[in-house]
Amino acid sequence: MILKILISTIAKLKLLAAGIDDIAIYIPKLFVDARDFAKARGMDPDKLQRGLGVSKMAIVDTNQDPACMAANACLRIMERNKIAPKDVGRLYVATESSLDESKAMNSYVIGMLEQVYGNDSFGHCGGIECKFACVSGSYALYDNTNWIRAGEAEGKSAIVVVSDIAKYDLGSSGEYTQGAGAVAMLLNDNPRLMTFDPKVTSTSIKNEYDFYRPFGKETPIVNGQYSNLLYMIQVKKALMAYKDKALSTGIIKLKEGETILDYIDFVNMHLPYSNMGKKALTYLLRHEWRSLPRWKGIIEKMGMQEPVPKDPRGTIESILADEEFMQKDHEFTKRFTMTDEFQEAYDSKLSSSLIASSMVGNLYTASLYMGFRSCMEFEFQKGVDLEGKRFGFGSYGSGSSAMVFSGVIMPAYKEIVKNMNLEAEIGDRRKVSLEEYEQIHESKLSPTQNILEGKKEFVLVGVGSSPELRGQRKYVFKE
Ligand code: CAA
Repeated sequence: MILKILISTIAKLKLLAAGIDDIAIYIPKLFVDARDFAKARGMDPDKLQRGLGVSKMAIVDTNQDPACMAANACLRIMERNKIAPKDVGRLYVATESSLDESKAMNSYVIGMLEQVYGNDSFGHCGGIECKFACVSGSYALYDNTNWIRAGEAEGKSAIVVVSDIAKYDLGSSGEYTQGAGAVAMLLNDNPRLMTFDPKVTSTSIKNEYDFYRPFGKETPIVNGQYSNLLYMIQVKKALMAYKDKALSTGIIKLKEGETILDYIDFVNMHLPYSNMGKKALTYLLRHEWRSLPRWKGIIEKMGMQEPVPKDPRGTIESILADEEFMQKDHEFTKRFTMTDEFQEAYDSKLSSSLIASSMVGNLYTASLYMGFRSCMEFEFQKGVDLEGKRFGFGSYGSGSSAMVFSGVIMPAYKEIVKNMNLEAEIGDRRKVSLEEYEQIHESKLSPTQNILEGKKEFVLVGVGSSPELRGQRKYVFKE
């Protein structure tokens, strides 16, 4: 039914269908174990594992950077689908780990891919590097989807690759939400995995300083709790705009007492850490259910009224400073997450998307799409038939902007999802000691002092330092 409505809406709008045909990941093979990390920082390991949902944080080796992770993910998706460079009309890289103020990351990636496919093989492949903290990948997907919908692609594919190293200062509260990796998505007009719903993508934006990285600084300046709340407010705003569009296009029809979230089968959220997904779902459900008849019964079971801040129209700062409200709200949230109604929504819509995040940590731009990948694999393993199911995406980038959009899983999805195996795709990993981690973190080792020998992948072999070659990066493909 959902698929039929989608196909007829696309036909009515005289657009081409467009969406994700396949998805590939690249995760570096070194990791920090959350228990070792907690011990070294004198923290309770339960705060990381139960409080934030962090088990392992992937970290890059000395000879890896965001460009080579992006190239490795692109190579995987091209080889697996036997895509020739001439069939790729656009290659976009979305990242907040930029390597240069001017030169775009897709040019490095194409340089690497041409080592495999031949010089100038990508000569007509357009693209740019996109930046808006963790949401830029979603803008890149949206723009490339529209390029295909408009017929500009003329049968070619687009590749959108999201790649980042999430790196915070040693000893900071962000340090336990690090990670690294890349996700490449192949887009075309006959996608096997998912077709995006047209005319519903919605955004919100506000000039904010919740998390930012001034020029020349390797790690961000973060206002942690502020960023958590701002993320949820911005996604909620974008969701409200999405709701208006979904109802007016007719892709979703609500009956009395229903919410838009009843019609989103799977919710995928931006995941700076795994439990942020649960926090965001809780916030959105509270917002959506509050005005529905079902809320009365839930409140009765919880035995507590929903608290209101002293100044309900106050700023994020005033809400966070309202200690009495924050305490009550924490208790209310705890009780709400224990209700059967919440548990049912959490288990069926969100939980599978969080698994990969706790295995690899924060991937910034890539974390939303790693969650999507994780959800498909683990729901399929549970025996859930995903055909015709609607996935909703809540994308957030600090600074700040959110984007909410959706797509429907296509009948051919099984061809791809049946072969998904996160453990196998990540490959064998090596745990690093805290000493090794800190040496890499503080850039004390050169690219050639790598811990692991890369195999069938691009690695960084040097960065020019002489005045005429300063900043020029050299990569090789390791057979
Ligand atoms: N056992 C079990 N749980 C515990 C615990 C213990 N011993 N100790 C604490 N916890 C729980 C807390 O109750 C809390 O749970 P709730 O969120 O459900 O209340 C959770 O662990 C985290 O505890 P704190 O809130 O006290 O953690 P913190 O203040 O030390 O840091 C953080 C959390 C603010 C996210 C911090 O890691 C940070 O600043 N991270 C970077 C910024 C970030 O990721 N912001 C997210 C939104 S912005 C964004 O998403 C953009 C982006 O990608 C960066």
